[in-house]
Amino acid sequence: MRLARRSFLAAAAALAACKGRDAGAQSRGPAPPLKSLAPWPVGCAVMTSELADPAYAQLLSRHFSQLTPEWEMKMEYILKDDGTFRFDRPDAIAAFARQHGMRLYATTLIWYAQNPPAFQKLGGTGQGFADAYRNYILAVAGRYRGQAAGWDTVNEAVAEDGEGLRDCIWSRNLGQDDYMVRAFEHAQEADPGAVLFINDYNLESLPRKRATFMRLVERLLKRGAPLKGIGTQTHIDAKLQPGALTTAIRELAGFGLPIHVSELDVSLNRAAGLLTDRIDLEARQARLYGEAAEAFAALPERQRFAFTIWGLRDKDSWLRGEKENPSPPWDTPLLFDDLGNPKTTFWAVADAWRGRK
Ligand code: XIL
Repeated sequence: MRLARRSFLAAAAALAACKGRDAGAQSRGPAPPLKSLAPWPVGCAVMTSELADPAYAQLLSRHFSQLTPEWEMKMEYILKDDGTFRFDRPDAIAAFARQHGMRLYATTLIWYAQNPPAFQKLGGTGQGFADAYRNYILAVAGRYRGQAAGWDTVNEAVAEDGEGLRDCIWSRNLGQDDYMVRAFEHAQEADPGAVLFINDYNLESLPRKRATFMRLVERLLKRGAPLKGIGTQTHIDAKLQPGALTTAIRELAGFGLPIHVSELDVSLNRAAGLLTDRIDLEARQARLYGEAAEAFAALPERQRFAFTIWGLRDKDSWLRGEKENPSPPWDTPLLFDDLGNPKTTFWAVADAWRGRK
């Protein structure tokens, strides 16, 4: 036990020492703005605290043409315990997008993981719960009507292992599938111009989960829900099998709906074997970024909704703050290093898109 821990620490220290050096990327010269290479929106997840940093804001607006609020447009932020709303930070992100000529992508209206006290109090009240549900969606989607290009309307409805759907406060009070149909209907009522998405993760790494997700989409469409787009989060790790991403994106595109690669990042930490083969993992990571960029670019034009990275610089990544299995500082999942320098991952995306615009 002690020996294992000691070698772990030594390896981690060695990794920390080589962190930040990406000679391959440095030798490529000045980085072209990603958005200048892509005829589709290139998105990034942001927090208001980050937007306040001029270096961050400059790098962000140089490369990205779309923003997703990483957390501050979620129910957990907007809906206070007493049932009132707070829109200060979501409004600030919307304003930043407007001021910088960027598109706003909004997330998320209904998510199993967020069931704030204001709704918990209403559990079991039947019509009371249903009314509050509609009011929430009308108020929030209505506020950004005309500005939000799209909304993650229902997020992560499929069970973790892909067997069926999640049981949650929404399904318990409004019925399984029914809560989703209602969410899409209310969102459409609030903002008829927004493209309404269903969004989920592990759709590339768990084919069974993808199959359940696709059956759900089919049922919702059959019931006439105004579901207009498919979001595949794409939180992956560097050991994902090559080809899996391409297969998933192609299959999901089979509905003919717009596709949003909505939260892309590629973790090294979550891939087994990091301590022994970092160089190999970094190469796989860059190839996966390239594969995602290629697979998205290969979609029919009308289906390329947006390609979004879940954070700007490695140090901004949500993986660092994750409750279960937080990433150590040597996990470098994004396109820019802690100082904002483009990495090999950046060039993998840039190379895949060069000449497309
Ligand atoms: C995460 C954010 O990154 C965190 O900052 C926040 O605290 C919780 O949400 N799947 C999703 C995203 O759909 O909304 C999550 O974002 C990451 C996983």
